[in-house]
Amino acid sequence: MAPDSTPAPHRPLPKAELHLHIEGTLEPELAFALAARNGVTLPYATEDELRRAYSFNDLQSFLNLYYALMEVLRTEDDFADLAHAYLARAKEQGVRHAEIFFDPQAHTSRGVPLGTVVNGLSRALDTAPETYGITTGLIMCFLRDESADSALETFEAARPYLDRITAVGLDSAEVGHPPAKFREVFALAREAGLKCVAHAGEEGPAAYVWEALDVLGVDRIDHGVRCMEDGALVARLVADRVPLTVCPLSNLRLRVVDDLADHPLPAMLDAGLLVTVNSDDPAYFGGYADDNFTAVRDALGLDEAALRTLARNSFLASFLDEGTRAAYLKELDAH
Ligand code: ADE
Ligand code: ZN
Repeated sequence: MAPDSTPAPHRPLPKAELHLHIEGTLEPELAFALAARNGVTLPYATEDELRRAYSFNDLQSFLNLYYALMEVLRTEDDFADLAHAYLARAKEQGVRHAEIFFDPQAHTSRGVPLGTVVNGLSRALDTAPETYGITTGLIMCFLRDESADSALETFEAARPYLDRITAVGLDSAEVGHPPAKFREVFALAREAGLKCVAHAGEEGPAAYVWEALDVLGVDRIDHGVRCMEDGALVARLVADRVPLTVCPLSNLRLRVVDDLADHPLPAMLDAGLLVTVNSDDPAYFGGYADDNFTAVRDALGLDEAALRTLARNSFLASFLDEGTRAAYLKELDAH
């Protein structure tokens, strides 16, 4: 019999995804379907025309489109459908646990109640262990280009839903909006027993990473790639085992790096940082969780051991309870 030349199918490593904006998973197909369902007219005639708009110069040029497309998200069903679509894709990418960001102010400012967002997302996430084999958490992010008062109001409005929320986060346009602006709301979140994370050191300077650690008391830094400009900061992050949720394809598409081959990920691993790989806004940046693993393998020559370290780090950096974490690590070792 002729030898079978069919390549072995790619079996993605089991992993946790810790940096994923649910609104950034809105694929053009679903955007058009929801627009039709809700009678919203998009400023693009076709899905292809929309896809052609996915060419960004920087974070702000992406955020402009990201917020504009959210117009189609109106009802609980919309948020449930969005989360189901993500979970189905995440399953195919080996994601076993996902800690999912959402941006309440981007919806309440359009007249969509917070309960609609949380209930819709929860409907999908509650079924995720059984339907997709994925455990989940929800991270409520404050928009840093909105006021500190708006963040405080959002937190107070969210109190009835805090049992469904694992952590608070900080996202949107970074430069000019340092973490310290949100000192008070993060203190309230910590008092309420929530974990804290913040985007810092994506486009903004290493000083914002220091502030997120020292003023906000965060448990993880989202992105954080610019920490590599500050040796003392790297030493602090290593000493305190502070996880960094790095998003390589996002960094490429938003021109944080010019070429994936120049990405600091290998240097970050060599420095002993607890770095993880995530997809950020996969519908916009050309890849979900495992696509990011494949991209760094191909562009940076990361070997199997390095990829396993990244997958292992994702569980170590998660907010999972110790029993579930241990079970996932065992599954990874057996893979
Ligand atoms: N919101 C969605 N994606 C983001 C990113 N990469 N940085 C800051 N805010 C965001
Ligand atoms: Zn992000």
